[in-house]
Amino acid sequence: MKIGILSSGGDCPGINAAIRGIGKVAIAHYGIDVIGIRSGFLGLINKDFIPLNESSLSGILNLGGTILGTSREKPFRKLIFSSAEEDKPHIIKDNYHQLGLDCLVCIGGNGTQKTAHKLSESGLNIIGVPKTIDNDVWGTDLSFGFDTAVNIATDAIDRLHSTANSHNRVMVIELMGHHAGWIALHAGMAGGADVILLPELGFDIDIVKKAIMKRTNSGKLYSIVAVAEGIEIKGKKNKKYKHPATYIAETIEESTGIEARETVLGYIQRGGSPSPFDRNLATRFGGHAAQLISEENFGRMVCLKDGKISSVELSKVSGKIKSVPSQNDLILQGERMGISFGI
Ligand code: F6P
Repeated sequence: MKIGILSSGGDCPGINAAIRGIGKVAIAHYGIDVIGIRSGFLGLINKDFIPLNESSLSGILNLGGTILGTSREKPFRKLIFSSAEEDKPHIIKDNYHQLGLDCLVCIGGNGTQKTAHKLSESGLNIIGVPKTIDNDVWGTDLSFGFDTAVNIATDAIDRLHSTANSHNRVMVIELMGHHAGWIALHAGMAGGADVILLPELGFDIDIVKKAIMKRTNSGKLYSIVAVAEGIEIKGKKNKKYKHPATYIAETIEESTGIEARETVLGYIQRGGSPSPFDRNLATRFGGHAAQLISEENFGRMVCLKDGKISSVELSKVSGKIKSVPSQNDLILQGERMGISFGI
């Protein structure tokens, strides 16, 4: 057998551990040949690939990013002026066969798993591997990258406490997550934030102000507000904000008179070495992907369910997002101990 591996969408810590896991188990345990497709689906369109062997898969476990590169190429996206030669799904299918592949492993988030499903429907043998710091891939309890991002974000919140305390300020920190609030919830709770705002819950700015004032009136002269990048700002007086944290900090300062500052943590959450947990999750996902291939059990995405590695049909995953449920136990316990979720 011969398989191709690609990574697509935004990078995250643990992709190299997954490539290594798939590749080493495929080669050493199942005797499968492996190539790496460069720059996501773009590499399959351009036949841009590298052979992967035990020596090129060594020494990459702890590396951030992806040795294969990535892109946000979406081959099924309809372009208004596309010609027959630009029929990307067709080109991908041709190149898959020309390269002699028996399976394509797609490491990526929601968008990647959607493309993976479409390629699977078109007759290719596909296995999906979920990766994203956002933790919003449907069908898996966790995706690798998330634990590392939560560690980085928690460390950042820890550091904001001392400077907030010294200046009696409100520190607003904006965390990634696209439309989901998983990083803000987990890092906010682990970092001891006083207010946590999630896209899934919405928020009322008056309730946020009241929560800050309540702390001030009880003698707590500084506060930490963790904000997910995806929260929606309503009634923003015609002013456009690139970052919701800016709006939250400005509004708190204007209405309470307490100095407020914002920090947008950004891509630092996505960079650098994966945590041990993410390395091992990626390794387990990778090994299981190789096993599914050896069993010719295609059209599936590997996943973590109730602590066990298994897999789910790509058709079930495609087009869905895993959001934070309002009855999440961290939210429940947070509310019970007086943390405001702005609602
Ligand atoms: O999906 C991961 C993620 O880091 C999101 O949290 C963020 O919104 C997005 O990617 C930004 O990605 P890029 O700027 O690379 O398109």
